[in-house]
Formats: sequence, structure tokens, C-alpha cells
Amino acid sequence: MLETVKYFIGAVGASGYGSKSTAEEVTETCPDLRSVTAIITGATSGIGAETARVLAKRGARLILPARSLKAAEEAKARIVSENPDSEIVVMSLDLSSLASVRRFVSEFETLRLPLNLLINNAGKFAHEHAVSEDGIEMTFATNYLGHFLLTKLLLKNMIETAKVTGVQGRIVNVSSSIHCWFSGDMIRYLGEISRSKRHYDATRAYALSKLANVLHTKELARRLKEMEANVTVNCVHPGIVRTRLTREREGFVTDLVFFLTSKFLKTIPQAAATTCYVATNPRLKKVTGKYFADCNEASPVKLGSNFSEAARLWSASEIMVSEDPKASFDPLFNAFD
Ligand SMILES: NC(=O)c1ccc[n+]([C@@H]2O[C@H](COP(=O)([O-])OP(=O)(O)OC[C@H]3O[C@@H](n4cnc5c(N)ncnc54)[C@H](OP(=O)(O)O)[C@@H]3O)[C@@H](O)[C@H]2O)c1
Repeated sequence: MLETVKYFIGAVGASGYGSKSTAEEVTETCPDLRSVTAIITGATSGIGAETARVLAKRGARLILPARSLKAAEEAKARIVSENPDSEIVVMSLDLSSLASVRRFVSEFETLRLPLNLLINNAGKFAHEHAVSEDGIEMTFATNYLGHFLLTKLLLKNMIETAKVTGVQGRIVNVSSSIHCWFSGDMIRYLGEISRSKRHYDATRAYALSKLANVLHTKELARRLKEMEANVTVNCVHPGIVRTRLTREREGFVTDLVFFLTSKFLKTIPQAAATTCYVATNPRLKKVTGKYFADCNEASPVKLGSNFSEAARLWSASEIMVSEDPKASFDPLFNAFD
């Protein structure tokens, strides 16, 4: 109850920011980002577009990968019209395709750029059941598995960049408070909805993908610490805001829900604040593996703090992204038949 009141009035937390803080406000005193190169997924609209605009305003060089190069060029043009000195590279990437993720990373490598910031923001909230070209349920493939592989393939560059420049690398995974709506066995449910639409529930599938973002953060943070890498990873709930995320659900019911909850909704600049805060604030130098909401550390659901579940998801993900034909993930799902 107290939390709801705090959210509603925009009370600031320990960070000095709260639910009503905007991305511009939380980065006003951040260090100059002119030496920072950032990859931001899903920057063609919504929260990602605002995150990109504000980080460019603070001087960061941006790589904007997108399914549609036209949409990415338009996003770039909007940023450049406000900040003519911005350095922005647009590239092609469909996160639902593991081959596309691999292609993107090898093209990025040919640019020989350093990498300081990786913001895994892209996401979808599907309405209809679909399976990716790799045989994985589409929401999970897009929101989690594509980002898992992207991060894995970019990690060496990030660790190396941090070592050479002395500037800490940061990874921000954009999750959602909806992650707490998932309960049950993650791999079993993923197997069920990847094989058939019989058990498919769009909201449960979305919650599963967002819980996977939280667990990815936990396990990756543990591994980065073990490697003594100067790279942190945290995840965020941006808040609820009307964006194109609900594009497949447009209609009277969605309009009504947004109307009834309008007093609780954030604006897009407010929704991009937590990502920008976690990506740039010097106070978070030692903070890794954590979950943030309204620009303050918060607690994920119990399952989201479970180290053995995080390690289990990691192992399953390694199999799912493996190029080794013998590492077929069928046995993974078969284990639950
Ligand atoms: N809006 C909310 O209330 C809310 C709440 C909690 C968490 N979130 C999370 O916030 C993040 C941003 O969402 P948003 O609300 O800003 O939604 P949005 O406006 O729909 O933006 C989503 C972005 O993801 C991109 N994307 C979708 N599928 C992709 C794919 N297969 N490959 C590459 N890019 C893809 C979209 O690109 P296209 O232009 O190609 O479609 C778009 O740029 C998501 O992770 C979402 O789950 C949002």
C-alpha cells in the first residue's frame, strides 16, 4: 500500500529519484558519455527510442540494431535533428532469429568499435501463438533468447573494452514487473508452448520471458564477478506506459484498460528513466545482478532470486543457442514428457 502511494506521488527513494523522474533528469549529472559506445536494441519506438535520444544527448555513440532499417534510419534522423553531432550507426537485427543475431555480431565486429554499454530493451507482447525459425516460442525467442545470445557474443568485446579503457562496462536488461506472474517450471512450459499452441497463454508466455530476463541478469552477474570483469549487469522494470508493445492487442478492451489505469501510467520519458539511471549513474559502480524499478533497487519475485533456477536456465539456453547439431534441444524438452 505504502509502495503504491509512493509511486503515485512520485516520492523519491534512496537514489534521489522516483517514479516521476525522467530519463533527462536522471542523466543530468552523469559523466560525459562522449567516450561511450552503446548498443540499444528496440530503439525504433517507445522506451528504447527515448533511451537512445537521451544517451545521444549526453554524448554516447549509438549502435541501433533493428528489424527494419527504414525504421532505424527514421529513429536516427529524429535524434540527429535534436543533436546534430550524434554519431549513430544503424544495423540490421531480428532478435527472434539466432542466425540474425550471429550476423549482426559479426558485422558489428567488422566495425572494430569498442563496446561499453549494452541495453537489451527490445520486446514484444504477442497476441497469437507463433514459433521462431529456431523452433522456440516467439515471445521467449525475441525477449530473452535473442538477447541471451547477443550478450554472450558481445561479452568478450565489452570485457576487453573495460580493461583497455578503464571505463566500466554495463549491461541493462529490460524486464517487467509482470515477471512475477509466472509460476511453475520454466523449461517445461517453454517446451509445451514451443511445440504446440494447446497450452499457450500470451500473458504467461510474456511473464516467462521477463522472468528469464531477471534470471539471466542473476547468473551473468555471478559469472562476470567470477571472471573479475569490470562489467556489471542489472535489470529494470521501466513502469507501465502505453507504447507500441500492445500493438497486437489494440481495440476497445485495451483502450478501456489504459483509460481506467491512466492515473498509474508513466510517460515515455519517465519509463526510460530507470534504464538510463542504471546505465549511467556512477553510484552503481559496485552494483550488479540487481533488479530496479522507479530508479531504485527493488526485489524481484522469489523465483527471480533463485540461483539454481538461474543456472538451470543458463544451461538450457546454452543448448538452445548451440550451433552444434548434436546439441538439439529436443531432449531438453523431452525430459518433461
Ligand atoms: N510499455 C510497458 O508498459 C512496459 C512495461 C514493462 C516492460 N516493458 C518492456 O520495455 C521494453 C520496450 O518496450 P516498449 O514498451 O518501448 O515497446 P515498443 O514501443 O513496442 O518497442 C519495442 C521495440 O522492440 C523492437 N522489437 C520487437 N521485436 C523485435 C525483434 N524480433 N527484433 C528486433 N527488435 C524487435 C521493436 O522494433 P520494431 O519497430 O521492429 O517493431 C521496438 O523497437 C520491452 O522489453 C518491454 O517488454 C514495457
